[in-house]
Amino acid sequence: MKTSWGALTLPKYIAALAVLAMIAVTPVAGQANRPQGARDPGPRPNPRSLIPNPIPGLNPNEMALFNESLLRISELEGTCDTCAQQPEGTLPVDPRPDNPFSPTSLVNSAGMGPTFNADQCVTCHIQPTLGGGSPRVNPAFEVATRQGGLNIVPSFETRTGPFREVRYKFHDDGTRDGGVVSLFTVRGRRDAPDCNLRQPDFEAAVRAKNTSFRIPLSLFGLGLIESIQDSALLANLNANTALKRSLGINGKFNRVPNNGTISRFGWKAQNASINIFAGEAYNVEMGISNDLFPISRSEEPGCNVSYEPFDVPRTKPGLYENPLKIMPAWLMFTVFMRFVDAPQPAILTPSAQWGKQLFSEVGCVLCHTASFQTPGTANPRRPSEEIGPQVVALRGKTVNLYSDLMVHNMGATLADNVVQGDAGADEFRTTPLWGLGQRLFFLHDGRTTDLMTAIQDHFSLAGSDGGDNPSADRFSRTYGDSEANEVVRRFNRRTEPEKQAILDFLRSL
Ligand code: HEC
Ligand code: HEC
Repeated sequence: MKTSWGALTLPKYIAALAVLAMIAVTPVAGQANRPQGARDPGPRPNPRSLIPNPIPGLNPNEMALFNESLLRISELEGTCDTCAQQPEGTLPVDPRPDNPFSPTSLVNSAGMGPTFNADQCVTCHIQPTLGGGSPRVNPAFEVATRQGGLNIVPSFETRTGPFREVRYKFHDDGTRDGGVVSLFTVRGRRDAPDCNLRQPDFEAAVRAKNTSFRIPLSLFGLGLIESIQDSALLANLNANTALKRSLGINGKFNRVPNNGTISRFGWKAQNASINIFAGEAYNVEMGISNDLFPISRSEEPGCNVSYEPFDVPRTKPGLYENPLKIMPAWLMFTVFMRFVDAPQPAILTPSAQWGKQLFSEVGCVLCHTASFQTPGTANPRRPSEEIGPQVVALRGKTVNLYSDLMVHNMGATLADNVVQGDAGADEFRTTPLWGLGQRLFFLHDGRTTDLMTAIQDHFSLAGSDGGDNPSADRFSRTYGDSEANEVVRRFNRRTEPEKQAILDFLRSL
């Protein structure tokens, strides 16, 4: 773009200088310009290796499964077995030559359907290691044209922003939608030469304010979260009730309609099981049908060139003699999520130590519950003890997740106008804060990289128009107060050094 400086009037010139000065002092993580005030110290550096650790104490069989699962979550998908070969040396994962069960030749997979969001679990789940969240550079631009794909990247994806998935709030006839709309199709790809399916008109949906966005959540420690008993969650609901009520905090569980247990995964706690999440992700994100979701999301002729269901136990003699290879990919994704370790916090600085205490005093901890215990003991002298999870390494563990796993009314600033089970249009699960120190994007739509903005956006008064909410819509005036309002007010009344301590604590997680 050509700038004509000569045409600038003096006030405009000063304003431009002010903008330049602001850019110069604004740190990468702190988009908001608060030179004197408390400031997000930014993400901690990534570890050197992309390979995450397993939970300590897995037995040799479980370790073999975990190693195989690393390869499966890194598979690059195509529509046929040989059409998406990853060139050697470009794997995002250490190919583990020491692992006899995992020859690199079997890393590629197939079964991609007509519509998809990405072609690898770790496209979206990779920051700071395999299994994490959205990376610094948005992979949507590479995925769109891989293998000759003719996709146009919608305007809500930006190169340095998070990978955003889109849901439509309503159908054309005005009834509720809320489902994920796949960004891409296989049209133009070398592995789907007969496909003519085009992408939906995303820009029209954006103009109609019918879009809401979600970014990837981390997969670390999900086996531990899965192992927390409903009774422990209910006991936490019934703790500190007077204090919670005085601050306006309620919250409820999103329950599974069929069996009544507490659902806990996803931004709205919409999924009760990591296994179901894995099957659904394979079907929705990558367009691959499987045992759990046997029908492809699009059966467009010419575009659907795979078996349906595709990802089921592999039985071809000669190719799949190894029990680890017989296991379908969706089951191996579950294994990964069950066995991968929780995020590890940094050693607390004095400021972070103080911040931990203030996080409780201010009341953040009333939603972001510091920890739960998994049942059972991991007593090696009583290995036959059958209490708690089947996996011994998951028994008797402290889960420092910083969440009550409940959904709360958060008001218009966060509302996305999508309803999932018991979670309403402005209700979200308290995001587990473990791993926050190495996350790049915050809140369900990834609207900010700044912790301070993430905290301030918890605040919303009844009747607010939603402010800068990327999903703001004409229905926003129907939302009530955010349940977090009083806690945010208490946070804001603290001194700047106290707020800084809280931010330092958050970045230690
Ligand atoms: C295109 C990006 C993308 C790809 C590819 C992707 N995911 Fe995700 N993942 C997401 C988003 C977005 C969410 C949040 C979904 C929500 O709650 O609406 C998510 C959430 C999850 C969760 C819930 C985590 C939690 O803490 O509650 C699991 C489990 C998961 N993904 C597993 C997988 C698996 C397994 C794969 C590979 C089959 C996969 N994902 C591929 C974007 C992706
Ligand atoms: C009423 C319950 C509640 C209270 C109180 C609360 N939070 Fe949250 N918090 C949530 C919910 C729900 C979300 C998810 C919102 C979303 O993504 O739309 C969230 C998200 C966050 C996030 C973003 C995490 C991420 O990875 O995207 C941070 C950071 C956070 N909270 C910090 C705090 C701090 C600090 C306080 C205290 C000042 C606090 N929260 C008080 C419920 C609460």
